[in-house]
Amino acid sequence: MEYRVLILGSGGREYAIGLHLLKDSRIKTLFFAPGNGATQRLGQNIDFINVDQLIKEIQKREINFVIIGAENFIADGVSDALRLAGIKVFAPSQKAGKLESSKAFMKDFVTRYNIPTARYVQTDNLDVAKAFLQTLKSPYVIKADGLCAGKGVVIVEDIDEAFKTVEKFLSGEAFGQSGKRVVIEEFMDGFELSVFAICDGEDFILLPACQDHKRLLDGDMGPNTGGMGAYAPSPLCDDKLMEKIKTRLIAPTLAGMKNEDNPFLGVLFAGVMVRQLGDEFEPYLLEYNVRFGDPECEVLMPLLKTPLIDICEAVLRGELSKLKVDFHNKSAMAVVVATKEYPYNKPIAQKISFKDYDGSLGHFVFAGVENKEGVLFASGGRVLLSIGVAKDLKTAHYNAYKLLESIEFDGMHYRNDIGYRALK
Ligand code: AMP
Ligand code: GLY
Repeated sequence: MEYRVLILGSGGREYAIGLHLLKDSRIKTLFFAPGNGATQRLGQNIDFINVDQLIKEIQKREINFVIIGAENFIADGVSDALRLAGIKVFAPSQKAGKLESSKAFMKDFVTRYNIPTARYVQTDNLDVAKAFLQTLKSPYVIKADGLCAGKGVVIVEDIDEAFKTVEKFLSGEAFGQSGKRVVIEEFMDGFELSVFAICDGEDFILLPACQDHKRLLDGDMGPNTGGMGAYAPSPLCDDKLMEKIKTRLIAPTLAGMKNEDNPFLGVLFAGVMVRQLGDEFEPYLLEYNVRFGDPECEVLMPLLKTPLIDICEAVLRGELSKLKVDFHNKSAMAVVVATKEYPYNKPIAQKISFKDYDGSLGHFVFAGVENKEGVLFASGGRVLLSIGVAKDLKTAHYNAYKLLESIEFDGMHYRNDIGYRALK
């Protein structure tokens, strides 16, 4: 079969999926919607203003497979609309996507199925929120119920500040409708892992465990971001811990969704907090996402040996258990390069210069870039990622940072310590 594949989204994740697909000779043409200034080098970008127009564009271009990268398309029901129009689409339904799009739904779900998670209350009532906060020890974790592009979680030390934060959420001042219901949680100490399961509603396969770096600055300081770098596989996740994540978090999630007549098909991303209790490492669920992580996807795609399109097809047929999925015996590291304004403001676009690029070290993945007559400009947020791939993590780390020396733009910022927990 020959494929004409559309990838929905505009970030590094979508670019990385595109790079992986292009290695497959069955993939004849790639499309991105909306894409970015560099995805148009891998395929064609499609502009659209609504889902009806998107469906027409898909039909006109004879696209025969759609992969949804970004969560907003799932939360907005685009996956369901495409399926209804007879288009093959790899993504969960809007209803199953509530695992990500509503923190309140997610917390109540995990409680129903005894999946370990932080103690919490979910409410739209200020008094209930305040009363629960008073039962907790500092720091306090406050989350908006709805999607807030990675900004809806606030952690504060001071109880009065916690009260004020909740007031701002519930009044709509902070995040509009998305914040009018809040989840308040006990704070958990530990290290985080990102674990991905590709699911066909019944069965799942686990991808190598990743670690993201959410904070802007070295040493995990500064504000939370969408993620400043990632690597995989993480040596912090040994077989014993992975088995606990599989049996206590992932398997009960799939079984629970099936039980509620809401089967999960697509990528289930468990944000896991690993707490050390005595000598044991115990996984707790922080959050679900219903798509690949960004920047985690950028390190997973180079490790995946089995063609992604075969995995997606097996998911849609409900035959994942019949597929053997292989990974390269390598490590990958991604260092995110952002603008100096990230995560607060949009910058004035800066020209990106390339010099002495050594492709044997790895490759670049492009995200927040504009293409002006063939020249790439850093135009926003996370601009690009330097991906090192090697036989071990130390070399992947060396390669990613070495490769970074070959790009430059005004105001570029990146972390110098990606992978520090694993490399120390
Ligand atoms: P979430 O979007 O729910 O994953 O939260 C974003 C980030 O906030 C997580 O990746 C953690 O770093 C942090 N976080 C969220 N909930 C907690 C918690 N209960 N305890 C400690 N850190 C948390
Ligand atoms: N890297 C975290 C996310 O994709 O949400």
